[in-house]
Amino acid sequence: MPYTRLAAAADIAAEKSLAVTHDGRKLLICHSAGAFYVIDNRCSHAEEPLECGRVRAGWIACPVHGARFDLASGAAMNPPARTPIATYPTRIADGWVEAELD
Ligand code: FES
Repeated sequence: MPYTRLAAAADIAAEKSLAVTHDGRKLLICHSAGAFYVIDNRCSHAEEPLECGRVRAGWIACPVHGARFDLASGAAMNPPARTPIATYPTRIADGWVEAELD
């Protein structure tokens, strides 16, 4: 599966995120603890967007009810979410954030 170029890495500050849409799919690029992650911009609890959620130390907190998700695995770290969110293999190439979208 080819990687898809989504945004310039320099446009996403440390411990911040950037919402992007690709082929109608709503994604969120997160920059945390020195790494970049691409996840679905949708919480697994009540399907709310995750953008504007706090990003720290490799996790993102849902801004609606506060569930946190591990950015690498997508695993829910605390209630009210129980199921993981989708994550995509991510790399930096020539200064761009690219993800392997399925
Ligand atoms: S919608 Fe995200 S925790 Fe409820």
